Amino acid sequence: MLRLQAPLPDRYTMADPADLETSIGAAKRALGSRLFILGHHYQRDEVMRWADARGDSFGLSRIAADQHDANYVVFCGVHFMAESADILTADDQQVILPDLNAGCSMADMADLDSVEEAWDALARVTDVARVVPVTYMNSSAALKAFVGRQGGAVCTSSNARAVLQWALGRADKVLFFPDQHLGRNTGLAMGFGHDDMRVWDPRQDMGGLAEADCKEATLLLWKGHCSVHQRFRPEHVEAFRARHPDGIVIAHPEAAYEVCQLADQVGSTDYIIKAVAAAPPGSAIGVATEIHLVQRLANEHPDKGVVSLDPLICPCSTMFRIDAAHLAWVLENLVEGRVVNRITVEPETAAWARVALERMLEIV
Ligand code: 13P
Ligand code: SF4
Repeated sequence: MLRLQAPLPDRYTMADPADLETSIGAAKRALGSRLFILGHHYQRDEVMRWADARGDSFGLSRIAADQHDANYVVFCGVHFMAESADILTADDQQVILPDLNAGCSMADMADLDSVEEAWDALARVTDVARVVPVTYMNSSAALKAFVGRQGGAVCTSSNARAVLQWALGRADKVLFFPDQHLGRNTGLAMGFGHDDMRVWDPRQDMGGLAEADCKEATLLLWKGHCSVHQRFRPEHVEAFRARHPDGIVIAHPEAAYEVCQLADQVGSTDYIIKAVAAAPPGSAIGVATEIHLVQRLANEHPDKGVVSLDPLICPCSTMFRIDAAHLAWVLENLVEGRVVNRITVEPETAAWARVALERMLEIV
């Protein structure tokens, strides 16, 4: 999805890191309790050090929902996260994304038109009253609203299992989008087999499935993926294990199941942080997730050997768009009384998306 971020003035793009630090510190002090900065674990250190709260996408949505005081919530993360924060905060609280081009390629793999087409196609061959749509947090507010209207819920990588259990307790089938890997990994962990799942390809008629497939499948998995996590391959696990026979492999559930099946532990970014902290000193730990988090964990645990499973660095290019220059720019504008890069979700979409988000918050 094209979102246009205006180029920043040269005094930000050409600034020295130390000057940006001074500007951000001064703006933060001037704004005081009117400002709250949220940082997702994939953010660069130069940004993360300013976060008032850090978290995975679930944790940050909880913190945003509980954040009643600040007038400005600056979200150092990606667009879908800022949208969710806008939905969960009060109307007079303004959510700001420092770079409007910080999207998520996975979230862009499912749009409202294709999901509505899929739903209508399913309705021709199954009873959609017995199908619950579940959307991963990594999706537009429009899709969260669709899910809210159709009786479904949002999930994140830390609660997908609980949400799928909830959904299958009230229906026979789940349409899960946009990440096929999170859906498949969660389904397998719940005891479903590959035969219970089908991949819905939105570029094909009827998702590329026969009527019998739609009827038989318990989990219909949207053909979407994260280009960062899909890079991890079983060969990476094998190479790590060959070097560290007693090493620990931890994967994010957006990685393919061939990798997750070989991993010792699978979980969200927050889970990965806790798992690394809990590992004994001296452990070799291979992590399948975004490189900024892996690098931070390596720095924070010098007594453990924390490495990325993929030796070729694997950053999330959109998370990376948020840098100290953009943070300084939005904060200095706020000090001047100008709100730049506000993320707003129109009221009707927000109301239904809130239903889907609040269902998730109630389930877990
Ligand atoms: P978490 O829910 O683990 O924070 O992951 C979000 C994300 O975008 C991972 O790619
Ligand atoms: Fe999206 Fe993948 Fe980046 Fe997460 S790591 S924000 S899923 S592109």
